[in-house]
Amino acid sequence: MSNDLVAYYAARAKEYEKIYGKPERQGEISDLTTLLLNVFPEKDVLEIACGTGYWTQRIAKAAKNILATDINQPVIDVAKSKTYEKGNVTFQQADLFNFKTREYDALFGGFIWSHIKLEELGKFIDTANSFVKPGGMVVFCDNNFTEGSSTPVSHTDEHGNSYQQRKLESGDTFSVIKNFPDENAFKKVLEGKGERIKFISLKYYWLVIYHKK
Ligand SMILES: C[S@@+](CC[C@H](N)C(=O)[O-])C[C@H]1O[C@@H](n2cnc3c(N)ncnc32)[C@H](O)[C@@H]1O
Repeated sequence: MSNDLVAYYAARAKEYEKIYGKPERQGEISDLTTLLLNVFPEKDVLEIACGTGYWTQRIAKAAKNILATDINQPVIDVAKSKTYEKGNVTFQQADLFNFKTREYDALFGGFIWSHIKLEELGKFIDTANSFVKPGGMVVFCDNNFTEGSSTPVSHTDEHGNSYQQRKLESGDTFSVIKNFPDENAFKKVLEGKGERIKFISLKYYWLVIYHKK
């Protein structure tokens, strides 16, 4: 079984958005969309790990413009095939940890936090902060573990990272890191790096908004 996260998302590109079709999550997807639309009006946004552009398409309705990036070209190809009414989205293939760009008003990362090793979260936040202007806004959202809806955790490693076994339509299976932080974990990781921290925890999803310190 492969534990290559990047290969997993490349292989999952065409079936990725099935996850957003789960009936029990529709109400919260709508709530999350509303929350995101309220934080990005007229913002110049860098999106990391944009995937198939599910959230890009929604945020683009409010933002001034978005540069949407992902390490995988196959997911960007799906994202590029969508319609962006304001014509305000451009795409670029980029590994977030090896990307040089200008400073933006705001950064958005959807469902990437959970895939970052706990021991690399400090570097991840420093990297995210480097992409925004002083005092710039950083927004992440991701999953809460919800019994009966989430894929069970298969094991936890020596650092406390949790993993799920995921099977694609091809039958290929992957061991995928998937962490489920609580409010204290955010406070700890963002200490000295973020201020005006707002954390919203729903049943299936969480959202954190902070400003670069
Ligand atoms: C769970 S998906 C989220 C996609 C999208 N943001 C969403 O919420 O629908 C995680 C994405 O992170 C991307 N990714 C993983 N490692 C990355 C890295 N180092 N730099 C940029 N993107 C990365 C994967 O290719 C994948 O598209």
